[in-house]
Amino acid sequence: MSVKHILLLPGDGIGPEVVKEAEKIIAWFNQNKGTQFTTSMAYIGGIAYDKTGTPLPKETLEAAHEADAILLGAVGGTQWESLDYAVRPERGLLGIRKELGLFANIRPAMCFEALADASTLKREVISGLDIVIVRELTGDVYFGTPRGVETLPDGTRKGVNTMVYTSPEVHRIARVAFELAQKRNKKVCSVDKANVLECTEMWREEVQKIHDAEYKEIALSHMYVDNAAMQLVRNPKQFDVMVTGNIFGDILSDCAAMLTGSLGMLPSASLGAKDKNGKTSALYEPVHGSAPDIAGQNVANPIATILSFAMMLRYSFNLAKEADLLEKAITEVLAQGLRTADIMQDGGKKVSTTQMGDAIIKTLAVLAKKEEKAA
Ligand code: IPM
Ligand code: MG
Repeated sequence: MSVKHILLLPGDGIGPEVVKEAEKIIAWFNQNKGTQFTTSMAYIGGIAYDKTGTPLPKETLEAAHEADAILLGAVGGTQWESLDYAVRPERGLLGIRKELGLFANIRPAMCFEALADASTLKREVISGLDIVIVRELTGDVYFGTPRGVETLPDGTRKGVNTMVYTSPEVHRIARVAFELAQKRNKKVCSVDKANVLECTEMWREEVQKIHDAEYKEIALSHMYVDNAAMQLVRNPKQFDVMVTGNIFGDILSDCAAMLTGSLGMLPSASLGAKDKNGKTSALYEPVHGSAPDIAGQNVANPIATILSFAMMLRYSFNLAKEADLLEKAITEVLAQGLRTADIMQDGGKKVSTTQMGDAIIKTLAVLAKKEEKAA
């Protein structure tokens, strides 16, 4: 494998702590599996605002364009909540998604067997759960104009955001979902609010068109977003791949994440289109946020970030075996009963952020040795 550069964007809150554990894993792969990853770090979010006056400095964006893949921790925190929208930490994240054209957000929600009892839902509802939400990431009310708040002549205020999608935007995200479903159980559920919102009625029609023209072998269904939220909680295993717009995807993916027992467990990938050199921009990040309440205490769960690195191995570097190994190590560590505070259960062994990272590395070494022996 040639040298590949990973840009680390730790960000705010628990971001730096969890990214540090992923860095240890990256170093392990370099030392033991012949990968040649180089890393560098840049500011994003609140810390970037504090240091440079903007949540997405020019240097960060340049480094992002040059990197082969990006690993992000989290952005945001209470100390930045009163800032103007334009410079809030979240703008850094939205900005990098937009600037790199990361339109496809892939959020798997799988239930680790060892954690099936950590969910607020009954074990039988979520045991074995393995679904993926494909969320469109660069359109919708997140970026649509007009937007903003104005004070009217009579002194009352009016707030506006605009839901916008074009058919090419719908087509490309639909294709990502269908392609993914082809490698899985060949089922796609497209989520919209076509009974009320014209924009999403168009979404429904265009997804159907792509299906009929290119992916007839996939079972496509459509669901209204309110029903989808209900079905996710009632019987999540009915789904395989769900595809939806930016705002619905934001909400449904948090819901799906919680089904699995902990938001601290789930990775995500945000992928762009292939550029003219055949390169796909890709940013990997945990689904959870910056959790300012527990930041700096060495208690956060690094697994979502480490699983995000596993997704990077798989999607950006085509290293499926290495990704499998890493995911296996995590499953094993959980089976051994090791738990960070967020997934702590009766009889579990409570560990810190760094201890969890160390345990995963130790298990990686054991599994790798076993594999060598078997080969
Ligand atoms: C997410 C987050 C972001 C979003 C925020 C932090 C801007 O909730 O990645 O789901 O709304 O997309
Ligand atoms: Mg969200």
